[in-house]
Amino acid sequence: MYKFHPLRKDQETRDKNAEVYPLLASDFIYPYFIIEGKRIRKPIKKLTGINRFTIDELLLDIKLTLALGIDKILLFGVIDDDKKDDSGSAAYAYNNLISRAVKAIKNKFPSVVIFTDVCLCGYTSHGHCGLIKGTSIENDSTLPLLAKMAVSHADAGADFVAPSAMMDGQVEAIRLLLNNEGFHKTKILSYSAKYASSFYGPFREAAKSTPSFGDRKSYQMDYRTVKQPIDSVMTAINEGADWVMVKPAHTYLDIIQRVKEKFPSTILAAYQVSGEYMMIISASEAGYMNLRFAMTEALTAIKRAGADYIISYYAKEYCVST
Ligand code: PBG
Repeated sequence: MYKFHPLRKDQETRDKNAEVYPLLASDFIYPYFIIEGKRIRKPIKKLTGINRFTIDELLLDIKLTLALGIDKILLFGVIDDDKKDDSGSAAYAYNNLISRAVKAIKNKFPSVVIFTDVCLCGYTSHGHCGLIKGTSIENDSTLPLLAKMAVSHADAGADFVAPSAMMDGQVEAIRLLLNNEGFHKTKILSYSAKYASSFYGPFREAAKSTPSFGDRKSYQMDYRTVKQPIDSVMTAINEGADWVMVKPAHTYLDIIQRVKEKFPSTILAAYQVSGEYMMIISASEAGYMNLRFAMTEALTAIKRAGADYIISYYAKEYCVST
């Protein structure tokens, strides 16, 4: 009669019956926002606990991140509006911000695994992820620029480039140019299933990448779709993606599960995006839930759904308190 309660009767029994391992520091990829200048670390208002760092300050912080056991980081460049142009040239210029950051990190901490975001939205004056003609996105002419950006990161020593622009053919274009330039070993983490989401709000403030007109619905996925993300993951793998990603995570646990079931041998990352993180932070600040418990439950759900790695702004906090 009592079939289930005996499995939950005390902490030891519950631990013995757990089917998902506890989260480890090695499960996480920690995002960083990087700015030009010296000795600045500036808290991002809408992204509690997260700063923008100049490269020198970034190095100090990475030391702490490593000490917590987190050895994978994802880098985003943030530049001032007056440095932006229609084609986002600061993203792929010689010696650009991210390539300098990668060099500095690799020089000081060679064991850190560096992922770099490859997208134009933080660098274009219009804030879109690719080139614009009139009011529409120009897929094909964007591809060489993304490839050039990826090569600049690879040349600096990035382990993974992570294209997030959602341009069709971006993985293929990047893989080809990387190979042509001799960067066969640089891997690609493809944001293959990235939905047009309301949950990116705080990030866009952090990365100064809000589109100045329209939205990203013509290139990011429609949240009413299930076949398209599977297809997009398959295409990315065929084009040469080493790892794939589902993003956001909490609202897309079903997609994480389906992708993992369909492509069990491909490494899958999931991104707990800024809005998902801030929902839990703000709810706990308002006294509706315990931050640590709620965050652990939410992050474990992402792992339970099938993610191999989790990109989370909470990664450091999580590891501090374990
Ligand atoms: C760039 C990009 C975005 C995020 C990661 N890379 C924003 C967007 O597509 O507008 C969002 C991450 C987050 O919300 O934490 N294209």
